[in-house]
Amino acid sequence: MKNLAIFASGTGSNAERLMSYFRDSGYAVVKLVVCNNPSAGVLEIARRNGVEVLLQDNSIFSGDGASLVDELKHRNIDLIVLAGFLRKIPVSLIHSFSDRIINIHPALLPKFGGKGMFGDNVHQAVLAAHEKETGITIHLVNEEYDKGRILFQGKCMLHENDTVADVRAKVHELEHRFFPEEVERYIKGI
Ligand code: GRF
Repeated sequence: MKNLAIFASGTGSNAERLMSYFRDSGYAVVKLVVCNNPSAGVLEIARRNGVEVLLQDNSIFSGDGASLVDELKHRNIDLIVLAGFLRKIPVSLIHSFSDRIINIHPALLPKFGGKGMFGDNVHQAVLAAHEKETGITIHLVNEEYDKGRILFQGKCMLHENDTVADVRAKVHELEHRFFPEEVERYIKGI
């Protein structure tokens, strides 16, 4: 049984899907939610699901992250899953959890990725580029933003009158459908 830590900064709908998916899985358990935002919706989701929360001040993520590594190792965390986490992961964490940090990005990388590309910014850029499709990318995290090895991509078609809200809904549907099972697929291989 692998121990998962979810890092999230916002609503937490993906975190909630992961918690419910792994409640019945024999492969992993969500042991911890790490969050940098005291008003994030994910905190209530964690409480409702009986998952421990580690609320970290933003300064932790601009430092060397050593204390965070200790917190994770102390809890025997095997895999970190970023689900809407808006801070850059400290290099010490990437080195301590090499090929053990997974992220989900709401677009088809390598397009529409990089610093500042999160949430509706991504969907607005996709619409502005008149893309015919968009989707999700599940990838390993390395030292460069959104550049780690791609594990999975899911696509959806776009229509010319789609709004940002339409794109957000289509992408969220893909995320909730595929993220948990792709995390489990990766866990089976480690
Ligand atoms: C998702 O769109 C995900 O792709 C991105 O952050 C968002 C998190 O949404 N990394 P939620 O907080 O899980 O609802």
